[in-house]
Amino acid sequence: MNLIVSVIGAGTMGSGIAQVAASNGCQVTIVDSFPQALETSKSKLKSILNRLVEKGKINQEKSQLIISNIKWTTEMKDISPSNLVFEAIVENMEIKQKLFSQMGQLVSDDCILATNTSSLSVTGIASICSNKSRVMGIHFFNPVPLMKLVEVIPTDETDKKLLSEVKSILENWEKSVVTAKDTPGFIVNRVARPFYSEALKIYEEGIADFATIDWAMKEFGEFRMGPFELMDYIGNDINYSATKAVYDGTNHDPRYKPSSIQKKLMDEGLLGRKSGKGYFDYSENAVNPEPNKNDELGRKIFNRILAMLINAAADVLNNEIATQDDIDTAMTTGVNYPQGLLKWADEIGIENVLKQLQGLQSNSINSRYLPSPLLIKMSQEKTNFYS
Ligand code: NAI
Repeated sequence: MNLIVSVIGAGTMGSGIAQVAASNGCQVTIVDSFPQALETSKSKLKSILNRLVEKGKINQEKSQLIISNIKWTTEMKDISPSNLVFEAIVENMEIKQKLFSQMGQLVSDDCILATNTSSLSVTGIASICSNKSRVMGIHFFNPVPLMKLVEVIPTDETDKKLLSEVKSILENWEKSVVTAKDTPGFIVNRVARPFYSEALKIYEEGIADFATIDWAMKEFGEFRMGPFELMDYIGNDINYSATKAVYDGTNHDPRYKPSSIQKKLMDEGLLGRKSGKGYFDYSENAVNPEPNKNDELGRKIFNRILAMLINAAADVLNNEIATQDDIDTAMTTGVNYPQGLLKWADEIGIENVLKQLQGLQSNSINSRYLPSPLLIKMSQEKTNFYS
C-alpha cells in the first residue's frame, strides 16, 4: 500500500521525517503555521538531495521523485487523506494537545496519530483525543535520515495491531525499532543521563578537568566523543532541559539531578559549539587545555561513569520500560555507544559493577549511587544478562 503521510512542523525533525517517508515512496504533506519555516524546509531538503546526488548516493531521478512526493502547506485541512500523521511541533503539552484534538477531527478514524516528543508524556498528549487507541509516540533521532534508531511508545490504550503496523512501516524504512513504555526520557534520553551528569559530578568534586574526563571516556571506553565535547555539540540548553525533564518526571530522583554548573553555563549563554563557547572554546585560534593522560585516573573516571550508565540501563529493564535487547540496541544505534550497556555489564562482571556503585554510595549523602535491585539480585544469584 502506498502510504499517505502527513508531518506537522517543518523544523529540524519534521523535515527529516518527511524526507525519510518520501524517500520510501510515501505521499507526504508537511504542514507548518509559518510560511518561512516551509520555505526553509524545502530549500534545505533540496540542498541535502543535491549533495546526495553529487556523492552518488542517489540519482537525479530519485532526487526529483522525493521532492515531487512532498507537498509543503500551511493548510491543516490537507492532512485529511492521511494514513499516518507525525506531529513534530514545539515541545509544549498544551500546544500539542490542541493540535491532536484538531488532527483527530480532520483525519479518518483509522489514521494513526504519532508524536515525536522527547520529554512529554504521550499519555498526556493522547488524553485530549476521543479515540486514544490510535495515538502513540514515534521518537526519531536527529538527524532523522542518518540515525537508525526509532523509539515507539505505546500508551496503555494504544491498539496493539496499530503498534505492530507502525513497527513494520518503520522497519521497511530501514529503521532500527525499539519499544519503550511511556516514561520520562523513554530509553535513550534516560539511560544516557549519567554520561553527562556523572562527568559533571566528577568535575565538581575536583577529580579531573573537562579535557581529562573526555580523554578517559574515549581512551578506555572507546566512546566516539567525551561527555563535555558532546554536551557542547548538543547544546547546553538542550542537554540541561533533557536532564531536567527526566529529573522532574522521576520525582526528583537524585541520580538525574541537573548540575548547577551546566545551568550556569546555560544562563550565561555558553551553549557550546552554536554559541562559540561552552566547556571548550570554539573561537578561531583558541587554545583548549590538554588532558592529564594518567592511566590510573582515566580508568577510575571511566569505571565510575560506566557503572552509572549500567545502573540506569539495569533500572530501565527492572522497571519493565523496555526489553534487554531493545535497551542495548537503543544505546548502540541511538547514541552510537561502542556496545550495549547490559552486554558490557556481563563483560566486566555484575559483581564489579555492584562494588563500584556500593563504593560510591558509601560516600554519598543521598541515594544517587544506590544500585538497581536487579544488579543486587543478579549478583546474589550469580547470573548474567546474556547467559
Ligand atoms: P523546530 O523548532 O526545529 O521545529 C518546530 C516547527 O513546528 C517550527 O517550524 C514551527 O514553526 C512549527 N510549529 C510550531 N507550532 C506549530 C503548530 N501549532 N502548527 C504547525 N506548526 C507548528 O523543532 P524540532 O527540533 O524539529 O522538534 C520538534 C519536536 O521533535 C519536539 O517535540 C522535540 O522535542 C522533538 N525532538 C527533537 C529532537 C531534536 O534533536 N531537535 C530530537 C527528537 C525529538
